[in-house]
Amino acid sequence: MQADSGEKKKEVHDEIEEHHKKIESITKDANELLERYKTEPEKKMGVFQYESEEADHRIKRIKTGIKGLDELIEGGVPEKSLILLTGTTGTGKSIFAMEFLVEGALHDEPGVYISLQESMEETMSQMRFFGWPVDKLIEESKLLIVQPELYNFDALMTAIEDAIDKVKAKRLVIDSISIIGMYFEKKFKIRKSLLEIAQLLKKLNCTCIAISEIGEGEVELSPYGIEEYIADAVIILYYAKKGSAFIRAMTIRKMRTTKHSTKIHPIEIRRSEGIIVYPTEEVFSTVW
Ligand SMILES: Nc1ncnc2c1ncn2[C@@H]1O[C@H](COP(=O)(O)OP(=O)(O)OP(=O)(O)O)[C@@H](O)[C@H]1O
Ligand SMILES: [Mg+2]
Repeated sequence: MQADSGEKKKEVHDEIEEHHKKIESITKDANELLERYKTEPEKKMGVFQYESEEADHRIKRIKTGIKGLDELIEGGVPEKSLILLTGTTGTGKSIFAMEFLVEGALHDEPGVYISLQESMEETMSQMRFFGWPVDKLIEESKLLIVQPELYNFDALMTAIEDAIDKVKAKRLVIDSISIIGMYFEKKFKIRKSLLEIAQLLKKLNCTCIAISEIGEGEVELSPYGIEEYIADAVIILYYAKKGSAFIRAMTIRKMRTTKHSTKIHPIEIRRSEGIIVYPTEEVFSTVW
């Protein structure tokens, strides 16, 4: 019995080792490829700027407010794009989205936070915890947190439109669109509603972050399998095992009209700073 379990352990260990080697090799290949496309000044600096000569300057980009991220996406996210922010629980999705709104609100781009998961008070206290002036921004109508009636899709659509109109929002966050799956029983109806909401978001002329969830151990990027196709950009946040601890990381899975980093970047969540992306550091992990 014990010999069996020892053998099994070794098998698992070997499998993990194998997996680890594969990740190392893929990362090495990707980095070599990136190295090839570096310009001379970038080679000297050792930094890849993700600024291509053919960058389309007609595309207006807005700053995300996430330290270290904008330099990986040609300076910011394309204005009026729909970004799917996905990851397993506790990966920092809500904090990321809040920081994105605060950045806008502090620079004359009002924002709306549609909170379908947490109460308004919980959302506000999370923002205060990071030292963001949430109360002042709300008072000045630069930030609006809305908690629409649950399980009522039409009420949700109306609440989004009304909130945007109220503060003339330029940025919008929905936390999370996965909750919409609980409004309907039939998958078809869920998908139809997700499409409808995406159409509404496109019409509103805002840059939107729609938060979605990945179940623990799942490989799909979203619960209903269409969210990532509807979105213009997909950012994934990870919580991954490295040795005997867990580390946080982020990757840009897609961003239309943008030459973006294809690496997996380590990130950190820090009190009074929010999320920090490390553009040049590497992540090696045994489990994703
Ligand atoms: N000051 C801090 N320093 C370090 N980590 C922090 C700090 N504050 C929060 N965190 C981390 O952030 C996590 C919560 O982040 P957030 O609420 O954004 O996650 P989430 O992806 O939205 O989770 P969920 O899917 O449950 O909504 C906590 O579990 C904790 O690990
Ligand atoms: Mg959250």
